[in-house]
Amino acid sequence: MPVAIITGASRGLGLALANGLAEAGWDLVVDGRDAAALAEAAAGLPRDVTALPGDVTDAAHRLALVAAADRLGGADLLVNNAGILGPSPQPRLADYPLDVLRDVYEVNAVAPLALAQLALPGLRARGGAVVNVTSDAAVEAYEGWGGYGSAKAAVEQASRILAAEEPAVRVWWVDPGDLRTRMHQEAFPGEDIGDRPEPVTVVPAFRRLVESRPPSGRIRLADLLAGAPA
Ligand SMILES: NC(=O)c1ccc[n+]([C@@H]2O[C@H](COP(=O)([O-])OP(=O)(O)OC[C@H]3O[C@@H](n4cnc5c(N)ncnc54)[C@H](OP(=O)(O)O)[C@@H]3O)[C@@H](O)[C@H]2O)c1
Repeated sequence: MPVAIITGASRGLGLALANGLAEAGWDLVVDGRDAAALAEAAAGLPRDVTALPGDVTDAAHRLALVAAADRLGGADLLVNNAGILGPSPQPRLADYPLDVLRDVYEVNAVAPLALAQLALPGLRARGGAVVNVTSDAAVEAYEGWGGYGSAKAAVEQASRILAAEEPAVRVWWVDPGDLRTRMHQEAFPGEDIGDRPEPVTVVPAFRRLVESRPPSGRIRLADLLAGAPA
């Protein structure tokens, strides 16, 4: 069975992706900082998974994730999904607290690369893949989205260069589109986000991505959902 590490799988998009891959027979290693929420989420998945509570910014936790995948035979897929928005509501860049900005970069930009560094030897050997979850905020100049958006822009450019440097590995930076999650609610505090699609709606497109293995590149899951060639 193929093996995937999915970060931030205790709720939202990460949990939906974990469900989708578990249903497809993947062995999974998942994380999240809230141990109780992670255990409850893992218990609801359709097969046993290795759930390791921890913070992706913690180097020892990242080593534990990759070691757990190694015990299952080694990761074929690393899904860097864990992310934070930053303050809610989001401050404009002129007022953005720099200590918080550093945290946003650590979680959203540094940790995904750090995990990829650990997983790369195995991914190269197995012809595996890295998915870095990004956002349209990485490429659009939405006012108020400067902290989160610039962190995601860093992930995108790091992904682009990693793809050029690692021809034996697929690297996809994946924009899932707007989804009804806790982070999305934090981004639009006090607003009714009930019209946004549930994370489960993008799972078929994600499954199509990992099964059809298109060349490395930027992927909008909406394009795969719409049936464009992968
Ligand atoms: N929702 C959208 O509309 C949307 C659009 C574009 C991109 N995205 C991206 O999709 C990904 C998932 O977001 P979401 O909307 O599903 O958010 P979410 O509902 O807030 O879920 C985030 C997940 O990441 C975990 N997490 C956060 N910080 C972590 C850390 N430092 N270490 C380990 N786990 C951590 C959370 O658990 P704990 O809090 O317990 O750690 C949770 O499981 C993110 O990368 C986000 O930027 C979302």
